[in-house]
Amino acid sequence: MALTVGYEVEEGVAVLSLQNPPVNALGIALRRDLSAAFETALADRSVRVIVLIGQGKLFCAGGDISEFGKPFEAPWVPELFNTVEQSTKPVIAAIHGAALGGGMELALACHYRVCEARARIGFPEVSLGLLPGAGGTQRAPRLCGAETALELMITGKSVAAGSGAARVFFDLIVKEGLREAAMTFARRLVEKGLPVRRTRDARNGVKDAAAYQAAIAKWRKRLGKGGAEAPGEILRCVEAAALLPFDVGMAFERAAFDTLEQSETSRALRHVFFAENKVAKIPEAKAGHARALEQIGVIGGGTRGAGLVALSLMAGFDVVLVEKDAPSLARALTRLRRLLDRAVSRGQLSALQRDGIEALLHGKTDMVALSEADLVIVAAGCDALEQGQIFAQLDAVVKDGAVLASASPFADIGALADKTGCAEDVLGLHFSLPTQMSDLVEVAVGPASGADAVVTATTFARKLGKVPVRVLGVPGRIGGRLMAAYQAAADRLVMSGALPRDVDRAMRRWGMALGPYQLADVMGLERVLARQEECGHGRRVALLRALIKDGRLGRKTSKGWYRYDADGGQVDPEVAAMIASLRGQTGGGSVPDELDIQRLCLAAMVNEGARMVEECQVMRPGDIDVAMIRGFAFPRWRGGPMQAADSTGLLSLRNLLRTCAQDGDAFWRPVNLLDELIKNGRHFSDLNG
Ligand code: 3HC
Repeated sequence: MALTVGYEVEEGVAVLSLQNPPVNALGIALRRDLSAAFETALADRSVRVIVLIGQGKLFCAGGDISEFGKPFEAPWVPELFNTVEQSTKPVIAAIHGAALGGGMELALACHYRVCEARARIGFPEVSLGLLPGAGGTQRAPRLCGAETALELMITGKSVAAGSGAARVFFDLIVKEGLREAAMTFARRLVEKGLPVRRTRDARNGVKDAAAYQAAIAKWRKRLGKGGAEAPGEILRCVEAAALLPFDVGMAFERAAFDTLEQSETSRALRHVFFAENKVAKIPEAKAGHARALEQIGVIGGGTRGAGLVALSLMAGFDVVLVEKDAPSLARALTRLRRLLDRAVSRGQLSALQRDGIEALLHGKTDMVALSEADLVIVAAGCDALEQGQIFAQLDAVVKDGAVLASASPFADIGALADKTGCAEDVLGLHFSLPTQMSDLVEVAVGPASGADAVVTATTFARKLGKVPVRVLGVPGRIGGRLMAAYQAAADRLVMSGALPRDVDRAMRRWGMALGPYQLADVMGLERVLARQEECGHGRRVALLRALIKDGRLGRKTSKGWYRYDADGGQVDPEVAAMIASLRGQTGGGSVPDELDIQRLCLAAMVNEGARMVEECQVMRPGDIDVAMIRGFAFPRWRGGPMQAADSTGLLSLRNLLRTCAQDGDAFWRPVNLLDELIKNGRHFSDLNG
């Protein structure tokens, strides 16, 4: 097997180069090879200094995340880094690209550090529900103090090595020529006879005890009580660095790391890390090529359309916005300006940039204006007939090779493609609302969509800073279908004795930003009804219809599931009476408790997700998780619904669905995939590839 650490000696300097593509992660092979290379360098009398450098795009991205949660294989990183630090010959880390997590901890275990100014350094472990577990919490504060260490470790943000407080970690920062600079630095060490300098013995960061404790107190206050586990553990470990001898602090850190690593939260966040990497792997990426995109056309300047125009302008595209007549166009432009102003007030744009990008916009009332557009997104036309007509008209005006996309989550892509003579260029691009805030774009692939069109659309989504998730062009796409299933579960719970506020509270406690009824009031009840009907829940919306008939349309009418006044949403006795009356007609059931509510809502979403996987409408369960986290405020720390189902246990969810299905409603019948997974002792995560 190829070695993952290169070894060469040049004028008394041993150069150990990490070569474990793509990111030099500290997997078992690299740890063994590095340990062996160190032994060789220490035993070699001709070697006076050791330089550790990375090959490829970066120094080291840290521990191999795929190994976490599995039994340790020696040498484990903290021990390996102790060996590095205990070296009797000076060790220099030469850093380019990035040193993240365990990569930065490796650099801290070295005696000297040379880096490129633009290299990124940081401790992203917190985003995996972990803490720096290879001495980072003990070594970093000894150099930089508690404030910088906590800022880096609790936010998990990376910073440029040459910027601000990060400079304290480095002995030499160069613009370029890293290897030469490190070799010169090494030779100078030898000439001057400079000794090893162990970070464990450093005092600079901890000598001002008052400042150290003040930083701890500040962050403790900021974190407050409760909240995520990892930040609290980071705080305790960094506090321990100033109070405990180094080796005891290391044991303290190790115990905290082990606990976090075994937690459901870390397991879920690690799953999301890989799921977000995998979501980009789509079959079209192999065969297709992104076409050049200069001009974007948007038809319809309503909420979604105006949002799309704003995003496209901010990404630097020339945009043609087409509305049906002059008054509609004027309203669309006003909406757009409001969005751009908001972007200025949020600091996403300067006022000067806003004025500049407005020059890239062409508002028109005739589709002929789209003749030069490379991609046209149809954000107008609420029903299939209208969308079909628009696509047929578009076909007559756009140039060859233009990609035509429907922004509607319900559009039948195959039927729209049939209206054109360029079926291979037609697909769906569904941006979750609010377009400026949500990260998700569902790329809906029709039966004839070509690889080039799909790759062009995903490239466009990424240029807008979004996460594209591929799905077949089924009505509702991923988010609409799972949210519709979630709503169906909520309605069933209400019909069997819970109140909307019980369901909302239970789901907020479970981690959702809003409960389903609060969300419905924000969305507008008519939109919710349309979604439920499109997604096949027309039989399950009696209550919703009754509310709409009563003029309860959500927040916009100050009454929906709740009644709204200056103090916000209040429970409405009239709604409770309507529920009671409908329950009377259907018989009701036993009153569900909080756990029942959470389980049924999850079971409904997961069954729907499993159906999509079974029917190959999505590539993998992890794609559903990414879509729900990025577009529908599903709690990231739960890992998405499919991962949450794996953690909860598929058997209990399947049995719950079976019980619900006893009333004869086929929607609740567990899909075969669930049975198959249970029978074979497998999980959704086994299907992620
Ligand atoms: N472990 C395992 N695999 C990793 C990895 C890691 N630390 N970092 C990246 N990878 C994998 C990715 O999954 C991807 O795999 P794929 O090609 O099969 O999909 C591949 O490497 C390339 O990664 P990216 O596509 O993300 O490459 P980019 O160039 O876009 O980004 C990066 C590079 C900024 C380093 C980014 O990969 C990243 O942020 N990685 C995670 C860094 C991290 O969280 N480090 C901490 C690890 S935990 C730790 O160190 C614990 C320690 O304290 C003991």
